[in-house]
Amino acid sequence: MSLAVLARSFGSPEVLEVVEVDPPVAGPGQVVIEVRAAGVNPADAKLVAGTFGDDPSMLPIRPGSEVAGVVTAVGPDAVDGVLPGGDGPVSVGDEVIAYRVSGGYASAVAVRASSVFAKPPALDWAAASGLLLAGVTAWHLVEATGVGPDDVVIVFGASGGVGAMAVQLAALRGARVLGVASAANADYVASLGATPVARGAGLESRLRAALSASARAADAAAAGGAADAAGDGAPATVALDTVGGAEGLDAAVVLVADRSRIATIADFERGAALGIRLLGSGPGADPGAALRNAARAPLVALAAQGALTVTVAATYPLTSAADALTLPHAPGKVALLP
Ligand SMILES: NC(=O)c1ccc[n+]([C@@H]2O[C@H](COP(=O)([O-])OP(=O)(O)OC[C@H]3O[C@@H](n4cnc5c(N)ncnc54)[C@H](OP(=O)(O)O)[C@@H]3O)[C@@H](O)[C@H]2O)c1
Repeated sequence: MSLAVLARSFGSPEVLEVVEVDPPVAGPGQVVIEVRAAGVNPADAKLVAGTFGDDPSMLPIRPGSEVAGVVTAVGPDAVDGVLPGGDGPVSVGDEVIAYRVSGGYASAVAVRASSVFAKPPALDWAAASGLLLAGVTAWHLVEATGVGPDDVVIVFGASGGVGAMAVQLAALRGARVLGVASAANADYVASLGATPVARGAGLESRLRAALSASARAADAAAAGGAADAAGDGAPATVALDTVGGAEGLDAAVVLVADRSRIATIADFERGAALGIRLLGSGPGADPGAALRNAARAPLVALAAQGALTVTVAATYPLTSAADALTLPHAPGKVALLP
């Protein structure tokens, strides 16, 4: 038998239970993965809560849309995956990550081979299971706003799963990055490659000061350390919001002149009212499905090169899925270890 986490009713994470189920079988175009780690994302709790629909026909719900593990069976025609070493068909014994999957909170899962990628060796199981959902969302944020080397980017929620990826991807594109997070997470945000700015009352003036200081530092670096530019009034050119609410978005529209270069994944109501980009699933939002799917392979490659890191805040056994979705944790991703 196989173990799976499921919800028989909509509600808070406490409705989740671990049950025995028939082991998954690799159908046409599928592989079976023995799950070593299942990535936990805020969307999992929203799915269980009924935020994405509460039709009883959806029950029981089996959350989990990304996993890392070992291939134990390969179905007919399962040849599409991006494979360990980059060539050859996916094989039993391959160490892989998979996104998007259904019911990833489990000891084993059947997955489309086209959703399977080689596990970057630099990431352990828990980290690897948290790479892709946050990664493709962050990729969509930097791509939709056209982040490049001349940009100054503000990331709201820089210590979060998506925010940490957005900081790293914007920095990899050569942008200067300011990362807004709680003051307690400033060192973590700095380690990702951003200038940390504490969230909370007075955020806009702290951002203005950080923008000025960043511009002065950039000018000095360009002039070999001799410049004495004022830097006052230096603008941001892009804002990426992963939190929502007035605090960040109201500051974003004041500090970034071009609203097509401000994007939110977390507050479509306020975002629509402000006329900024809405990314994800929801009315008026760009789901970016093709772009996100295409981002998986380059994200895996960046992680394999060590250019992209995933920090793990906590791991839990499958039996503690409710805790994984509710307990506060240090910055970084959470994973379930079957
Ligand atoms: N549209 C899409 O396609 C899409 C895709 C993925 C995720 N999402 C959504 O995007 C959001 C972020 O996802 P995630 O995986 O990055 O979540 P996460 O890992 O839980 O991070 C959220 C971050 O927000 C910050 N935060 C929490 N409360 C805050 C507050 N009151 N004010 C300001 N910042 C606060 C926290 O950092 P500090 O405490 O350091 O501030 C935390 O690190 C979630 O709502 C998720 O459902 C949307």
